[in-house]
Amino acid sequence: MNRYTTTLAFVAGLTCAVGHAVAAELDGEVLFNTHCRNCHTAVKDDHRLGPSLHGIVGAEAGKASGFAAYSGSLKGFSWDEATLDKFMASPASVAPNTSMIYPPVESPEQRKAIIGFIKSKSTQ
Ligand code: HEC
Repeated sequence: MNRYTTTLAFVAGLTCAVGHAVAAELDGEVLFNTHCRNCHTAVKDDHRLGPSLHGIVGAEAGKASGFAAYSGSLKGFSWDEATLDKFMASPASVAPNTSMIYPPVESPEQRKAIIGFIKSKSTQ
């Protein structure tokens, strides 16, 4: 291999690694597992530290049946994609006394991908 082909191989490898990182970054399931799965599933009635997020888009806040550990702060509104997005970026901006304390998802694209994943699970 001369120097030119070595460089080419290096650049190709790099491009591939970057492409992979971007795909993973926007894979809703991976993002959900990273940011939410410690406390949530998207499986119906499968509550953990937080309530199941199955069917959350369109659902009334704070009403997952069988989940007893709500703070009382999530009430009086229904979840749509905009409120979910805001909640993930800053839970307290939506529900000031919420007990959901976690490092917010800073990237709007990542939040969108997570909502897409939850929606895809909600029809199953
Ligand atoms: C450290 C645990 C934890 C993590 C991590 C976490 N949550 Fe929560 N989540 C909770 C708890 C606890 C509640 C109940 C909050 C309350 O009652 O105020 C909750 C509530 C919610 C609700 C409201 C559900 C309802 O029935 O109204 C949504 C939506 C939600 N979480 C989405 C997410 C998403 C999306 C992620 C990942 C980006 C996430 N949460 C990460 C603990 C967590």
